[in-house]
Amino acid sequence: MIADPPRVDGFELRALCEADGPGLLDLFSDPEVCAFMDIDPLVVEAEALDIIDWAEALAAQGLGVRWGVRRAGDPRLIGTVGFNRIERDRGRWGEIAYDLARDQWGRGVMSAILPAVISRGFEDWGLLRLEAMVTTGNQRSCVLLERMGFRLEGVLARRGWWKDRAWDQMVFARLAD
Ligand SMILES: CC(C)(COP(=O)(O)OP(=O)(O)OC[C@H]1O[C@@H](n2cnc3c(N)ncnc32)[C@H](O)[C@@H]1OP(=O)(O)O)[C@@H](O)C(=O)NCCC(=O)NCCS
Repeated sequence: MIADPPRVDGFELRALCEADGPGLLDLFSDPEVCAFMDIDPLVVEAEALDIIDWAEALAAQGLGVRWGVRRAGDPRLIGTVGFNRIERDRGRWGEIAYDLARDQWGRGVMSAILPAVISRGFEDWGLLRLEAMVTTGNQRSCVLLERMGFRLEGVLARRGWWKDRAWDQMVFARLAD
């Protein structure tokens, strides 16, 4: 099952579900968290529920998955991580994505979690390539990916359009050993 969460010491990952609406609203209502993401900061819970619907539909079709992240024993949703896309038909690759609440940055949380997510893609699903799309300027994300063994392959100029403007996106990738 694609939605089965990887195990990470000290954290609990669980596929996003409707009950995560308030937590996701809290996470994605922060403009700093959304600064380089393709969404405006959320204002109402219905917007969070739309994202959860999207994530559930992805998982139901086997095309991706998004897990909510909590510290073990603490109910607060502190971030999300997962695969925006899993391609196993005309390729063997996945696109990872992740985010953390602002007060969790600089504490090594995503560095602790990503190895298990990467291993899910390579070891469990047999993918040959993992990639991540990073909006230019998102330095923290670049440093994280490089620490995880990803390499910058290039920049897709004006690939994105959100928040009423075009955005360049960097493609990072790590290949299976
Ligand atoms: C991208 C994002 C998850 C990176 O968060 P982060 O806190 O920088 O990354 P990590 O969780 O790996 O933590 C690394 C930091 O923890 C520190 N750290 C502490 N203990 C650590 C440990 N055991 N291992 C690794 N790093 C550790 C590192 O020094 C680093 O801090 P610094 O950059 O201030 O020096 C975060 O900035 C974010 O959520 N941004 C908004 C959403 C977003 O843009 N998502 C990405 C879309 S592509």
